[in-house]
Amino acid sequence: MPDKPKSIRLEAYKLEVKDCVKGMLELPDEYVDVVVTSPPYNLGIKYESYRDSRTRNDYLNWSRDWSRQVRRVLKDNGSFFLNLGSAPSNPLIPHELVGTLKEVGFILQNTFHWIKSITVQTKEGKMISTGHFKPLHSRRFVNDCHEYVFHLTKHGDTPLDRLAIGVPYSDKSNIKRWAHTEGKDLRCRGNNWFIPYKTIVSRSKQRPHPATFPVELAEFCIKVHGAKPELVVMDPFLGIGHSALAAKNCGIREFIGFDIESSYLKVARTALLRGTTAPGVEIRGQEGQKKNDFAGTLFDASAKQSK
Ligand SMILES: C[S@@+](CC[C@H](N)C(=O)[O-])C[C@H]1O[C@@H](n2cnc3c(N)ncnc32)[C@H](O)[C@@H]1O
Repeated sequence: MPDKPKSIRLEAYKLEVKDCVKGMLELPDEYVDVVVTSPPYNLGIKYESYRDSRTRNDYLNWSRDWSRQVRRVLKDNGSFFLNLGSAPSNPLIPHELVGTLKEVGFILQNTFHWIKSITVQTKEGKMISTGHFKPLHSRRFVNDCHEYVFHLTKHGDTPLDRLAIGVPYSDKSNIKRWAHTEGKDLRCRGNNWFIPYKTIVSRSKQRPHPATFPVELAEFCIKVHGAKPELVVMDPFLGIGHSALAAKNCGIREFIGFDIESSYLKVARTALLRGTTAPGVEIRGQEGQKKNDFAGTLFDASAKQSK
């Protein structure tokens, strides 16, 4: 079941078809509270227009350019949540990118692991396997069931709202035993976030993008930073808009998103109005094809630009 859409003014959700560096250059210093994003990973993913196969140096230099802008527009106590994955044959790229961000002036405050699939053996010996499992045929590598979410900040001391995504104690006796619980059945979730993809039957209709994260992942990021309606949330690599949907679900009033691909943003705008990119949402790649088009309903700073 998709989350119930919050009623907020979507005019303050600015989705622009634009290179994010150019887009961010138009923003004032220290304007944004939370950045949640997932840039191309340089793993040869087939996007609509972006070519995801730069040389390592070119990729890291480009990342230096966009992350400098992220740092400039981020508030002093802001949070930058960076989702990165790797390939078994290229396991170091997320860490190399974090190294580049350290040079740019970011501090790695937390590392979260987005677990897509897991097997747990209960105390009773029952084996539970759950989540999204991507088959891999290899004699060298095991299945890669997780990605990173690096939490980067300017000073390493941005306060968080850990219990906003807290979980109940499994041993309830802890509630009384530990004074810091203040009698509440809620503890920190920790840094392993199990968030499986929703099962879909048609990627082109239901999730028309080759590299998305679930709305819930971005929601966890916004909530753990401390969601307040007056925060400004940004995603420089918006894709089909899962971070924008997350911001909406968290009651955020102002959101800024960029992507160079207009067909992705078109999906994002529809999703924002309908509250989901999930089944039932009719999607067309070309401008002007869909009858009940939403252009103009949402603030669309790029509407008059050619691609
Ligand atoms: C990993 S995807 C983001 C997917 C998104 N998190 C979602 O759930 O839909 C990266 C996106 O970056 C976009 N992109 C590539 N270069 C860009 C640039 N210079 N400025 C803005 N967007 C860019 C691609 O078109 C792609 O949609």
